[in-house]
Amino acid sequence: MEFKKLNNNEKMPFISYGVYEISPRKTKKAVINALNAGYTSIDNAQIYYNEEKVGEAISESGIPREELFLTSKNWVSNSGYEKTMKAVNKTLDDLQTDYLDLLLIHQPFGDYYGSYRAFQDLQKEGKVLSIGVSNFDSVRLVDLCMNFDIVPQVNQVETTPYYQQYEANKIMKEWDVTHQSWGPLSEGLDNLFENPILLEIAEKYDKSAAQVILRWLIDRDIPLSCRSVKTERMEENIDVFDFTLNKKEIEKIKELDRGKSPFNDYNDPEIAEEFISEVISDSKFSFDLF
Ligand SMILES: NC(=O)c1ccc[n+]([C@@H]2O[C@H](COP(=O)([O-])OP(=O)(O)OC[C@H]3O[C@@H](n4cnc5c(N)ncnc54)[C@H](OP(=O)(O)O)[C@@H]3O)[C@@H](O)[C@H]2O)c1
Repeated sequence: MEFKKLNNNEKMPFISYGVYEISPRKTKKAVINALNAGYTSIDNAQIYYNEEKVGEAISESGIPREELFLTSKNWVSNSGYEKTMKAVNKTLDDLQTDYLDLLLIHQPFGDYYGSYRAFQDLQKEGKVLSIGVSNFDSVRLVDLCMNFDIVPQVNQVETTPYYQQYEANKIMKEWDVTHQSWGPLSEGLDNLFENPILLEIAEKYDKSAAQVILRWLIDRDIPLSCRSVKTERMEENIDVFDFTLNKKEIEKIKELDRGKSPFNDYNDPEIAEEFISEVISDSKFSFDLF
C-alpha cells in the first residue's frame, strides 16, 4: 500500500475500504475479509449504522491498532459543538478505539462550524489525528479554511470518471487540503466497466476497467474509498500498485467527464432537505440491501 502525506504530516493509505450500505448483519464478515485481503484503512460513518460491527471485526482481527487507519464522519443531526463531542465519543466506543485517524464533517449542513470547533479540540486532545470535511464545494471549503486556525486535512468528495472534479481539485491543492474520492466506481452505472476507453487501457496493462479507474485516481494523487462485498473484487481493487497510467491516458479519460454527479444534483434544494432531515436514531438502520 502507498500513502498520501497530509498537511499535518500524518500519512493516509491511498485506498480505503468503504462500508457504506453494507448492512450491519454483513459488515463484520465483510471487514474481516477486507482486512485479510490487505486493506488497512476502513472508511466509516455514523450514518452507515455499522460502526459497532466494524469495531467487532477490528477487535477480532488482532491487528495492532497503530497498523490501521480509521475514518469516521459526523452526521448532520450530530452537528454543533456539544452534539459532535457526544457523537464522536460514541463512535470511538463503537469502533473499540481511543482515537480516530481521520474525522470528517459528513455534509456541509447544520452547525458545522460548531462541529469543526469540536474537531479542533478533539485533535488537541489526541482523540483524532486528522480532521476534515466531506462534500464541501470550493466556496464552502475556502470559507472554512479562512475562518479556522486548522485548515482541513482532507475533503472527501464524489470523484469518478463521470465526475472528475478538476476545478475542485485545483482549489484543494491551493489550500493544501487532500482531495479524497468517494464512490470512485459509480457503482458501475451506465456500463462504466464496459467503457471502450477504459477497456483499451485495461487491456494494455492486463488489468480490469475498475482497476484502471482506481489507478487513474492514484495517478492524480487522489486517495480513494471503494467498496465491494465480494472477496475477489476486494483483492482486485487493491491490486493496482504495479502499473501507472501515462499522461495521454489520463487525458483520454477526461472524455468521460460529465462535469456533474451521476447520482445527486448538489444544487437541488431537495437534496439539502433530504440530508438535513435524515436524523440518526437509536433504533438501528433496518436496510439490508447487500
Ligand atoms: N462522504 C460521502 O458522502 C460518501 C458517499 C458515498 C460513499 N462514500 C464512501 O465511499 C465508499 C465507496 O463508494 P460506494 O460504496 O458508493 O461505491 P463504489 O466503491 O464506487 O462502488 C461500489 C459498487 O461497485 C461494485 N464493485 C466494486 N468493485 C468492483 C469491481 N472490481 N468490479 C465490478 N464491480 C465492482 C460493488 O459491488 P459488489 O459489492 O457486489 O462487488 C458495489 O456495487 C463508500 O463505501 C463510503 O465509504 C462516502
